[in-house]
Amino acid sequence: MSSKLSTFICQNCGTETSQYFGKCLNCNSWNSIVEEIKSKRSKNKDTKNNKKSIPFKEISSKKISRFTSGFREFDRVLGGGIVPGSVVLLGGEPGIGKSTIILQSAGKISLNEKVLYITAEESLEQVKIRWERLNQNSIDLKIFAETNLSLIIEEIKSVNPSFAIIDSIQAIHNHEMESSPGSVSQVRACSSELQNLAKDNNIALLIIGHVTKDGALAGPKTLEHLVDTVINFEGDNLSSHRLLRSIKNRFGSTFEIGIFEMLEEGLREIKNPSSIFTNKENIAGVTTTITNEGTRPLAVDIQALVNKTFYSNPRRTTTGININRLHQILAVIEKHVGIKLSEFDCYIATGGGFEINDPSSDLGVAISILSSLKNIPPLASTSFIGELGLSGQVRKSNNLRTKIEEAVRLGIKNIVVPKLEEEINNNFQNLIHIKEISNIKEAVDYSLSK
Ligand code: TYD
Ligand code: MG
Repeated sequence: MSSKLSTFICQNCGTETSQYFGKCLNCNSWNSIVEEIKSKRSKNKDTKNNKKSIPFKEISSKKISRFTSGFREFDRVLGGGIVPGSVVLLGGEPGIGKSTIILQSAGKISLNEKVLYITAEESLEQVKIRWERLNQNSIDLKIFAETNLSLIIEEIKSVNPSFAIIDSIQAIHNHEMESSPGSVSQVRACSSELQNLAKDNNIALLIIGHVTKDGALAGPKTLEHLVDTVINFEGDNLSSHRLLRSIKNRFGSTFEIGIFEMLEEGLREIKNPSSIFTNKENIAGVTTTITNEGTRPLAVDIQALVNKTFYSNPRRTTTGININRLHQILAVIEKHVGIKLSEFDCYIATGGGFEINDPSSDLGVAISILSSLKNIPPLASTSFIGELGLSGQVRKSNNLRTKIEEAVRLGIKNIVVPKLEEEINNNFQNLIHIKEISNIKEAVDYSLSK
């Protein structure tokens, strides 16, 4: 038995209300609320429960066995490979390369596992053209072009693959619902049915989802809690570099990144990513920092341009660094180095526009600013690591040892860091010169005196 039920859903954040509003009460976006009709199934199933609670110690612990995605960079972002029975959501802007990476991966996985690729956006011929361009091998890769959810589910059940791909969730629809494909209630309902199917049959499922202009996945809240892992595929159309970033991962650490390059014949992983975000030039206004992204240390250049302002309010812009962080660093310099910056515009950009979230990049930003202001290049072949406290002190940084190791690997000669444990310092003797500092003034005196 089923009855029709009307509900109002914000297409931006997925909030449901019982009446129409011009502005969403949750995310404040205008005209995003759409009436959707869902069919309500009678709830007489699943009420009998034969399960009982059991003591904790009786649960058998089995080790997760993963299989490789065929890319080491992709495996790292997944936490070490694909977990059977897990559901991964791969989000990204249209055209960024989601179908490309997943088709390459599907080919590689199919050499050892049974793979089913469901294309709801492109025809079989279109996929074949891409496949030929990518020059891949496959053994057990099947492809199915369909948008109807019940037919997709039937096909997955009959093929029973180890790995299935839905490209994309916004293009498939459940016929029992009247709302259009891509609407929040469709996306939500289709994902949850697919998720149940994956769990019941121990199939690893990868769902591709497009992001909207402001960077949110359609119906993001509902999808993100439903799946085990959420990965974003990022990059801009001007450069050929692409970044995979884990936002949520039940089987690994988050904010892990994988770096690729888009070439004529598909995506290639970049084995030494520090080399693409640094230039190793010794010029005024540029320093190198080593940040931590997930479990990986990464060297990134920080460039500053400080100019006398022609405006009543000086301009401050950033690429790759949070603007509030810059305001804070400027305030610390004013107060604790004693340099008045209110008459200067200040522009900051990271190498390749790489987004740095690690606060230990503060020191690099500060030295870049002062280096540009004084027009003096910083000490040659030097990396700067340290979070700036509001009273000018340089605070401890996470994973300092791995950051210093990365600097050594890159052949950097000096590294300026917060005070270290003696044991770490001893480990690096003869490999790199380590300068320990406790406040910003010391760092400036050390690295910017001619
Ligand atoms: P695609 O994987 O279709 O993007 P998405 O699925 O995220 O919408 O990628 C499309 C872009 O990638 C397109 O602009 C062409 C480019 N591309 C290459 O540069 N090289 C390649 O080998 C392929 C297959 C695509
Ligand atoms: Mg696509």
